[in-house]
Amino acid sequence: RERTFIMVKPDGVQRGLVGEIISRFEKKGFKLVGLKLEAPGKERFEQHYADLSSKPFFGGLVAYANSGPVAAMVWEGHNVVATGRKMLGATRPDDSAPGTIRGDLCIDVGRNVIHGSDSVDSANKEIALWFGHENLVNWASHSNSWVYEV
Ligand code: GTP
Ligand code: MG
Repeated sequence: RERTFIMVKPDGVQRGLVGEIISRFEKKGFKLVGLKLEAPGKERFEQHYADLSSKPFFGGLVAYANSGPVAAMVWEGHNVVATGRKMLGATRPDDSAPGTIRGDLCIDVGRNVIHGSDSVDSANKEIALWFGHENLVNWASHSNSWVYEV
């Protein structure tokens, strides 16, 4: 099944939101296959957000991402990339619907608590950058047949 890269940003870690965020993905039915708390340094974030390097907020974004430990994770499940983005909500908390992670838990686009891959292609690149596909755990969840009909 499909996989996505999800990262609780430093504000989310500092504010004690790691458990809440993991809980939302668990309760949905997605399966956790990679998890670590890490402070990987500026270069990792410059690579991670390379597509945004020409934006005026890029320097601030990298400083924000690098301002404390992040909780990096990989979640697996049917359509998890697109569904994960819906669970996160819009980039700008002003536009994120109530019920989404950003809609419920933050106010400022520069402190929007969580990252999620925006396509299957980005997910593959981000998983390779943060974990390496060989460092994920393949395991059988006992609830599989209660989450999926087939
Ligand atoms: P990520 O999941 O973190 O990649 O967010 P996104 O895909 O919803 O948005 P995008 O990739 O366009 O931007 C990455 C991050 O840059 C956002 O989550 C914000 O933290 C930050 N960002 C985006 N736009 C702005 C902006 O206009 N101002 C500031 N200060 N930060 C921004
Ligand atoms: Mg993005």
